Order: sequence, then structure tokens, then C-alpha cells
Amino acid sequence: MADDRLIVAMDVADAISALKLAQQLGDAVSFYKIGLGMLTTGGLALANELKQEMGKRIFLDMKIFDIGATVEKAVRGLTSFDLDFLTVHGDPNIVKAAKDGASGKKTKILAVTILTSLDRTDLDAALIKSGKLSDLVVERAGKAFDAGADGVIASPQEAPLVRALPEAEGKLIVTPGIRPIGSKPGDQKRITTPAMAITNGADHIVIGRPIWSAPSPLASTMEILSEINNL
Ligand code: C5P
Repeated sequence: MADDRLIVAMDVADAISALKLAQQLGDAVSFYKIGLGMLTTGGLALANELKQEMGKRIFLDMKIFDIGATVEKAVRGLTSFDLDFLTVHGDPNIVKAAKDGASGKKTKILAVTILTSLDRTDLDAALIKSGKLSDLVVERAGKAFDAGADGVIASPQEAPLVRALPEAEGKLIVTPGIRPIGSKPGDQKRITTPAMAITNGADHIVIGRPIWSAPSPLASTMEILSEINNL
């Protein structure tokens, strides 16, 4: 049976392939993430179809970043779709604008702290201030919560530090960067297993390639579900 702690990232070629995946996974998965890669290949229509026809929950991962007025307008438009989660970058002014855009809607605004594909070398190249990456994640998470974010995206390695923040009380922690034992890391750098992520304080785990590129996406999903249900 489905467990909405698992969110499957539909980073597949187009909306048709995504619908096929959802049909294959059937009742085993109740929550899907649609990302930027799907925007030009039917992503929003897919969100509607999954929600209205199949009763799934939807996480639209747009990682919005722009001037406040534009963020507010974009979020207002996007939340006219019946979304459960929507991501913006975790800068406080962006989070505040997004919350204004989502006012009156049920959509939860999640703030991206630091992408799970980045390490300190990448941050140096992007001129991000010095210090341990995990400290920066926790600092950004605290500021995003103060600005009104309903939750944050963080790596499962940083989840316990975020969970320990007083500002994190009642907020969601959603973790990509999950790799079941034996699966390839790909470009993810700060990873843990599904069970470890939940133990570390994640409310939801986002898993893409280990499911959709598996020989049997359903078998791989069932293994992940049994891992998190046997904690
Ligand atoms: O295939 P994989 O399991 O690595 O997919 C992870 C998903 O989570 C991708 O859709 C990626 O865009 C997303 N994501 C991430 N790191 C973040 C935010 C989102 O990997 N900080």
C-alpha cells in the first residue's frame, strides 16, 4: 500500500512516459514530483491528470528565484493548479513573496537550502561564503522558516541538524539525495539510504533514478517501502 512519505521524482522524458510510470506503480505510490525538465513536455497537464484522475498528491519542483513581484505572480499562477508542494529558493525575500502568492491556497511552500548535488568545491566556484556546507544549510533553513516557509528541502545528511532547530517545529523536511544500497549515486553527493533519511528526521523522501530507471520500477518501489516500514 502507498505511503506518502515516499515521493517519486518523475524525471522521465515527457508526460506520456510519466503517466505510464504512474500506471505501472499504481496504488504503491501516492505522491509524485514534477520538475523543471517536464515543463516543456506537458508537466502542468500531467499534474492535473495525476491529481484529478488518479487522486495523487503533487509536488511541483520549480525552484523559483526572481525579484519578489515576479515570484509572487508566478506562485499565484501556479497555485491555481491544485498543488500540494511547490519549491522556491530559500532566500528569505523569495520565501516571503512566494507565501504572499500562495495566500488562500493549500499549497505548501518549500524552500531549497543548498542543492544536494553541490559540495564545498561547487560553493567556492559560485562565490558562496566560506564555512561548512552543513552549517550553511542549517543557517539557510532557519532563515527560510523565519520567513514563513512551510518546509525545506535538504540532504538527508543535514536533516538531523535542521530538525534540531527550534524554528523547525511543525515544519516539513523533504530530502532528495536518497540511494538504496546498491544503487548508483549519479550526480548526488550528500546521500543516505531511505531508512537513514527517515531516521534522520525527514518527513518525505524524494527518489527518482533508483525507481524510474530500475529494471522494475514497481519492485524497486516495494523494496523502498518495506525498508521504511520496517524501521
Ligand atoms: O534521481 P534522483 O533520486 O537523484 O532525483 C532527485 C530529485 O530531487 C531530482 O528531481 C532533483 O531535481 C531533485 N532535487 C535534488 N536536490 C535538491 C532539490 C531537488 O536532487 N536540493
